[in-house]
Amino acid sequence: MEIQAPKGTKDILPGSIPAWNYVERVFADICRLFGFEEIRTPAFEQTELFARGVGDTSDIVQKQMYTFDDLGGRSMTLRPEGTAGVVRAFIENKLYAAPQPTKLWYEIPCFRYEKPQSGRLREFHQFGVEVYGPADMLADAEVIALADTFLRRLGLTDFSLRINSIGCPECRVKYRDALKGFFEPKFDELCDTCKSRFETNPMRILDCKSSVCQELGKGAPVILDYICEDCAAAFADLQKNLDALGIPYSVDPGIVRGLDYYTKTAFEFVSDAVGAQGTLCGGGRYDKLIEEIGGPDMPGVGFGLGIERLLLAIESAGVEIPAPEKAAAFIVSLGDGPKAAALALAAELRGRGIAVLLDDMGRGMKPQMKYADRSGARYTIIIGDDELAAGTVTLRNMETGEQERIPADSVADALK
Ligand code: HAM
Repeated sequence: MEIQAPKGTKDILPGSIPAWNYVERVFADICRLFGFEEIRTPAFEQTELFARGVGDTSDIVQKQMYTFDDLGGRSMTLRPEGTAGVVRAFIENKLYAAPQPTKLWYEIPCFRYEKPQSGRLREFHQFGVEVYGPADMLADAEVIALADTFLRRLGLTDFSLRINSIGCPECRVKYRDALKGFFEPKFDELCDTCKSRFETNPMRILDCKSSVCQELGKGAPVILDYICEDCAAAFADLQKNLDALGIPYSVDPGIVRGLDYYTKTAFEFVSDAVGAQGTLCGGGRYDKLIEEIGGPDMPGVGFGLGIERLLLAIESAGVEIPAPEKAAAFIVSLGDGPKAAALALAAELRGRGIAVLLDDMGRGMKPQMKYADRSGARYTIIIGDDELAAGTVTLRNMETGEQERIPADSVADALK
């Protein structure tokens, strides 16, 4: 059988690269405007990092991780998300010792064993940002503003921002009891995973992908009714900051997020263009994670934004992607002498920063001309025996069809 790409993965072919490069450039630029620096961390980490960081009652850790023993017998996992690895790097490299805050961005492949469908892959890519240090809701608002600015800069308008507070460990004690009270009479109908979550982390039942559990969860108590004074004040603050920024949002008490590390702020940017998998970007605050992973007691906040889903949204919105620049010239040559001259000329022009193509296929003159036309190059440089003997080339403007003979050593200046 022919070898195929693994299910849920996608080749990113040259035709798609301009769109990728475009969103990458814009994201890097917006991050610069907001004062973020790039970080790159390994694509795999010790499994324990995700079990502790993402949380061992989450769907991701329980069902979706690519975990394997390496040849040294250590359990490793392909990163299912970016936050845990960046926090690990922050602690391990003692970035916390510098004046705070630390503001980082990244672009990473992530791996989750999910059922593939449009906008849901097993290998997908994320842009992400993380801020360490600020407890103030200003940071949450800035992180949200960064995502909002990015989406709008790309020309997207058909999306909405939903925010929630999922409280702190203290408020969650009461909420857990309320949830357990709600699910107790329905316990037997829950899926096996949720039966175990009932004791360990009943909030996760609300995030279960099983349609039965989703149905059973309808009408469940909402966390906003249980958050403590502190968390409620922080949530009010966040809304004030978003109002000041003029960023539209709605409060959605149903947002629980699929990872265990969140405290207080949780938010999602959703877009209908992405279909059933409507979440373009998800994030929030995680005030205990850095300490849980072995670092100082420092708060954090950030988001992850799915690049494949972003590209679906861009396509459906008809956003125009800047076309990549074509070569300035295609050198057409025939015969051994002219071919050697073509090679030398190509080297000279490239050395001066001019992109040129030449025939690598051993084609005749006519097919070379045809190919030069298809290549989109603005000029064709023709070198035949006559030109070579006279130390000239024929320079043809592909748009106007005009052509002239010029000295071979003036081609670079003519093209510039
Ligand atoms: P997440 O909500 O799990 O959060 O993922 C963030 C985004 O990644 C989603 O909104 C979606 O666009 C994209 N995504 C997730 N799973 C898939 C998939 N299977 N296929 C395609 N795209 C997908 C996190 O990962 C957190 N680390 C975000 C964060 C950073 N929170 C704080 N800091």
